[in-house]
Amino acid sequence: MSVRPKKTIPDFLHHDDKIVMVTAYDYPGAAHAERAGVDIILVGDSLGNVVLGYESTTQVTLDDIVHHAKAARRGAPNTFLVADMPFGTYHTGLKRAREAAVRLIQESGADAVKVEGATPEILEVVRVLSRNGIPVMGHVGLTPQTATSLGGLKVQGKTVEHALRILREARDVEAAGAFAVVLEAVPNKLAGLVTQRLRVPTIGIGAGPDCRGQVLVYHDLLGVYEEHKKLAKRYAELGRDATAALEAYAREVREGAFPQPDNGFLMKSDVLREVRE
Ligand code: KIV
Ligand code: NA
Repeated sequence: MSVRPKKTIPDFLHHDDKIVMVTAYDYPGAAHAERAGVDIILVGDSLGNVVLGYESTTQVTLDDIVHHAKAARRGAPNTFLVADMPFGTYHTGLKRAREAAVRLIQESGADAVKVEGATPEILEVVRVLSRNGIPVMGHVGLTPQTATSLGGLKVQGKTVEHALRILREARDVEAAGAFAVVLEAVPNKLAGLVTQRLRVPTIGIGAGPDCRGQVLVYHDLLGVYEEHKKLAKRYAELGRDATAALEAYAREVREGAFPQPDNGFLMKSDVLREVRE
């Protein structure tokens, strides 16, 4: 356990330390992350997949993120917190994007927001928000909100043309004012190259060891689900442990092994006597 001061954007821009980022969606997860001393908590729209049981991040609403970011903020009052702008909130006009970002900052207590992609419309969103004092983290490479048009959840930037496009997108997002850029599922060497060419830090996921920072989904790194993802490392097997614990609980209740008298409370014998009469 380490108690460290809350990091700020200049810290991310100027220090050479690796930036440690993890997602969290609720009070306990964020509290664990803060106690572990991570630099950035992301209330990602992966919320939809790992917490809400949706099929796609595109189903996640602004209300969903606000609700969960508020809980995460209460769990980690002292950690830089980024909230994902959900699908739809920055694709339908600048006014709507500004209002959504203001809610995430004001209601949820987020320090920054994250948007995916680098189309001219999205670059304009990055520009307007960051110019108006709302820090924006970019996200290029595999962008799950538009995965359908990318051909599914797979590695991006494998051809010259595509690699150059990702490099250009990362630079455009930086030029538009982003303070950091997530690189998701791009080849290691491309991520290293983008990292060299940017002034702001890159934060990788499935992007190899040469980014300035790393992000993982809480449930992936803790092994909550059975599915093993190549881009993640499992530091625990919480899903297996939780199922085993619940099975043991069910067995013991059925067998009468739990609860024992010690798990309850004593009654004074004179009180018992009177109640019985
Ligand atoms: O929603 C999310 O968890 C993310 C990270 C994987 C970067 O966007
Ligand atoms: Na996301």
